[in-house]
Amino acid sequence: MLCYKYANPYDHHQQIKLINSLILLNNESKLIQAANKIVAKVTDAGKEYKAGDTVITALQASSMDLRSGELTLIIGPSGSGKTTLLSLLGCVIYPSFGEVWIDGIKVNELSEKNLAQIRLKKIGFVFQKFNLIAPLTALENVMMPLILQGISDKEAKAKAAAALEKVGMGDRMKNLSNDLSGGQQQRVAIARALVTDPEMMLCDEPTASLDIKSVGIVMKELKTLATQGKAVAVVTHDTRLTPFADRIIYVIDGRISDKPIEEEIAIK
Ligand SMILES: Nc1ncnc2c1ncn2[C@@H]1O[C@H](COP(=O)(O)OP(=O)(O)OP(=O)(O)O)[C@@H](O)[C@H]1O
Ligand SMILES: [Mg+2]
Repeated sequence: MLCYKYANPYDHHQQIKLINSLILLNNESKLIQAANKIVAKVTDAGKEYKAGDTVITALQASSMDLRSGELTLIIGPSGSGKTTLLSLLGCVIYPSFGEVWIDGIKVNELSEKNLAQIRLKKIGFVFQKFNLIAPLTALENVMMPLILQGISDKEAKAKAAAALEKVGMGDRMKNLSNDLSGGQQQRVAIARALVTDPEMMLCDEPTASLDIKSVGIVMKELKTLATQGKAVAVVTHDTRLTPFADRIIYVIDGRISDKPIEEEIAIK
C-alpha cells in the first residue's frame, strides 16, 4: 500500500531503466565469461618416453589452459616439447602423469575410441607434418572429417570447398595432395582442421612452409576464428607471428614459462 502511495510514473520508469541496464550488464558479463571460457587445460601434466633403459622426458609437469576467444602462441626452440604439449591438449597422446581436461571432461582415463570422438567433435589439429592422405585429392582430404561425422557427401563437398577457398586453395581442390607444394599441403591441412567448425584449433607450425603473403592470410583467418570465440593455439618458431597473439607461452627444455626464451636462457 505504501508503495502505491509514494510511487509515481517517473520513478517507475527509472526503475525499469535500472532493471534493464542491470540485465544488460549481466548479459555483458556473461558474454565476457563466454569469451574466456577454459576449453582445454593441462594440470601438472607431462610426457615421458622409454627407450630401453633410458627415459626421455618430452614435457615436464606443466599447467596451462586454452580459452575461447583467444589466440595463444606457443614458442620455443626445436625439441623443447611444443608438439608434445599441443598433442596433450589435442588428445593425440595420453599424459604420462598429471591431468588433461577438455571442456570439463578429464580425458586421462578415456578409451582411444572416446578420445577419437572428442578430437572429431571439438578439435581441429594441424599437424607439423600435415598428415594428408596421399591417394586422396585436396578436396577429399578436407571432406574426410565431415564424412567421419556422418555428414552427407554433397554437404561435405560444399563445406570442404568453402574451407579450401578460405585458405586460397580454391583452384587446386582436384589435385592429389602429393602433387602439391609444401605450403599448399599446409594450407589444405589448415582447411581440414577448420572445416568441422571446431571449438579448438591447434596448429603445429602452420606457417613453416608459407611465404609472407600466405602467412598473413592464414594468421588473419586463425585470428578471426579466435575473435569469433574459438580457442586457437599456434606452435611456432616464427617471431613474425607475435603481433597476432593474445597470449604467448614459452616452452624451453620441456618446461612451460611465461617469460621470453631469451630471459630464460639468461637466467640459466
Ligand atoms: N615418440 C617419441 N619417442 C621418443 N622421444 C620423443 C617422442 N616424441 C618426442 N620425443 C622427444 O621429446 C622431446 C620434445 O619433442 P617435441 O616434438 O615436443 O619438440 P618440439 O618443441 O615440437 O620440436 P620441433 O620444434 O623440432 O618440432 C624431443 O627431445 C623429442 O626427441
Ligand atoms: Mg614440433
